Amino acid sequence: MSEKKSFYITTPIYYPSAKLHIGHAYCTTIADAIARFKRLAGYDVFFLTGSDEHGQKIQRTAEKQNVTPIEYVDKIVAGFQELWQRLNISNDDFIRTSEERHQKVVQEFFRRIRDKGDIYKGEYTGLYCTHCESYWTELQLDENKCCPDCHRAIEKVSEEAYFFKMSKYGDKILKYIEENPKFIVPTSRRNEMIKFIKQGLEDLCVSRTSFDWGIPVPEDEKHVIYVWFDAVINYITPLFNDPERFKKFWPADIHLVGKEIVRFHSIIWPCMLMALDLPLPKQIYGHGWLIVEGDKMSKSKGNVVDPMHLIDEFGADAIRYFLLREITLGQDGGFSRDALINRINADLANDLGNLLHRSLNMIKKFQGGIVLKSVGENEIDKSFKNDAMNTVFEYKNLMENVQLSDAIKKVWTFISRANKYIDETMPWKLAKDESQKQILSNTLYNLAESLRIISILISPLMPKTGQKIFEQLNLENFEKSRLEDVLTFGKLPSDYKVNKAEQLFPRIEVEKQ
Ligand code: ME8
Ligand code: MG
Repeated sequence: MSEKKSFYITTPIYYPSAKLHIGHAYCTTIADAIARFKRLAGYDVFFLTGSDEHGQKIQRTAEKQNVTPIEYVDKIVAGFQELWQRLNISNDDFIRTSEERHQKVVQEFFRRIRDKGDIYKGEYTGLYCTHCESYWTELQLDENKCCPDCHRAIEKVSEEAYFFKMSKYGDKILKYIEENPKFIVPTSRRNEMIKFIKQGLEDLCVSRTSFDWGIPVPEDEKHVIYVWFDAVINYITPLFNDPERFKKFWPADIHLVGKEIVRFHSIIWPCMLMALDLPLPKQIYGHGWLIVEGDKMSKSKGNVVDPMHLIDEFGADAIRYFLLREITLGQDGGFSRDALINRINADLANDLGNLLHRSLNMIKKFQGGIVLKSVGENEIDKSFKNDAMNTVFEYKNLMENVQLSDAIKKVWTFISRANKYIDETMPWKLAKDESQKQILSNTLYNLAESLRIISILISPLMPKTGQKIFEQLNLENFEKSRLEDVLTFGKLPSDYKVNKAEQLFPRIEVEKQ
């Protein structure tokens, strides 16, 4: 028996800020689509997301609200979990950094690195942005001497602290990045990181004493461990106490992260892993930002779009489709209600909805709802089936390369092609001519079969919609579908009855102002 191929993908663990916005949902949706595709392709998948709960910012927010930090985060994290459920996110585990299982691993790693001599005690004086949980040097500040990321005021801090000897690993990580061109993608991010390392890596301050909402430094509990040192370790926590699982899933295949935190994942985290003698993740993928009216959406700006409201209004699959289709992975992309509604109407209600509706209705009208056997093929059928199979192979290659948007476009090109096949074959004409009976059966079979193929191809993007199409085709066990079920045309059974056509996506009427 050959062992199943394994695949491990992570999202960042999110800060429990009061509001999750559609920008967070973007990252998690991408990871979910990749995880679902890999399962479809037969991999044993582990997909991890979670929450990053420690740090001074959280402690201060909780104090302001007169609650303890854990009371504060419990409530917000419950909201994350509800959102992921409503978006049909298929994560295999959810890691909270406040959990004991995580604390143990972080302390163990801290100890190991300290025992080795790569963590040492010193004096820290520096500039700290509480909002971003980031230390900066004078040179890195913006033109107003503020945080270069969020442009808030920074604080000067001075305290006894532990340091991680990152400087020791600079050459090694640089060499690794240069020798592994796929380690950091896209290339623009890779080049940024190379430039950053070439300026010289400084040792990293990895503890604080000015607050206590964090994981205590082992054997020196007045210090808490720096939140980023704590956070990145989440990627190993679920594997740590299970050697089988660790062997199977580590190193991770993809850490999917927003472009502003590529540095933590492609420099700090790998240096930590080198100090621990653990293998490095195979890839850090830096995705772009969701832009609303020209600005990165974030809670501190007014342009927050609440994903729960969007799901209430349009349904999870429509949101998922928009995020995955509209934005090329790695680049920034715009979000607007108008663009979302346009996609729903044009691609989902129109192209896909019509294909399903027309096909099932014709099967009902001309054959009493029975899909009859296809025997023989003419030139039109042949070219249509060819296009179907080409679509599957192109989709597969693009999805394997995580070119999600391009893969989706291929599927929609085929959906248009299938609608055109109806216009070319004109089943309503065939139905009037007894001598064309077999050709009619072939045509309707090919349409039903193409809908089966489409439902499986779209399952990583729109799991509920894929399932609905499957059910309307009166097929079972959608969850057990595999990519290999669509690698040949004609696996749909025949001489069976399909169900009634139901609308997948209602057209959204936009009121004209
Ligand atoms: O950075 N568009 O957490 P976070 C796209 N806790 N992505 C966006 C976005 C937008 N408008 N706004 C936020 C942290 N994100 C750390 C991570 S990992 C060990 C620790 C993305 O809640 C952002 O790019 O600030 C990041 O990848 C993720 O949301 C979490 O952001
Ligand atoms: Mg952030």
